[in-house]
Amino acid sequence: MAEKKTVRIVLGVTGSIAAFRAADLASAMGKEGWEVHAVLTADGARFLPALTLAALTHRPVHTSLWEEGEGGRMSHLDLAQTADVVVVAPASADFLARTAHGFAGDVLGAVFLATRAPLVIAPAMNSNMWIHPATQENVKLLSSRGVIWAGPAEGRLACGAEGPGRLAPTTAILGVVKKVLQKGKPK
Ligand SMILES: Cc1cc2nc3c(=O)[nH]c(=O)nc-3n(C[C@H](O)[C@H](O)[C@H](O)COP(=O)(O)O)c2cc1C
Repeated sequence: MAEKKTVRIVLGVTGSIAAFRAADLASAMGKEGWEVHAVLTADGARFLPALTLAALTHRPVHTSLWEEGEGGRMSHLDLAQTADVVVVAPASADFLARTAHGFAGDVLGAVFLATRAPLVIAPAMNSNMWIHPATQENVKLLSSRGVIWAGPAEGRLACGAEGPGRLAPTTAILGVVKKVLQKGKPK
């Protein structure tokens, strides 16, 4: 009988106040039996320590393009090539702007450009930031390139406002990733 292949997820975490919820998401992904390879932006690390993600995923967290890959390999390309799905949760407005325009100046941006795996983005930001035409143009651009969205949800935001921009619940993000996995990685 063929051995069941382990699902490999790259989980990108950016600088949103909702970043602490990525710890719960990483843990839930681990419970699914998925291998989670976390990538944390520099500002993401201001909200969630790499140590927390490393402890929950049982592996080192990628924080720099300049880290030495195993056997001299380029970690961002390894991550890109071996991922079954790349998930960014929470995704900041700035991350959406950068990736919509192909910026690859950090590990997450480089993985995003180099991978051919399905891309799932769970945005989290203040409502005005979310509905701003600049953000919505970036969303449109990314959608036209096949990005799959998980949320955002509506409700009370960290800033006290009510509206769209809340990070989708962990179960909802997991649900989107499971659907994507059922469809499989494009050849
Ligand atoms: C307290 C605080 C909370 C923030 N929360 C958010 C947020 O929820 N969503 C967002 O898009 N930006 C938020 N920002 C702004 C981002 O951290 C900032 O745009 C940052 O450059 C994003 O970097 P990154 O995308 O490389 O992680 C917040 C900033 C601060 C100081």
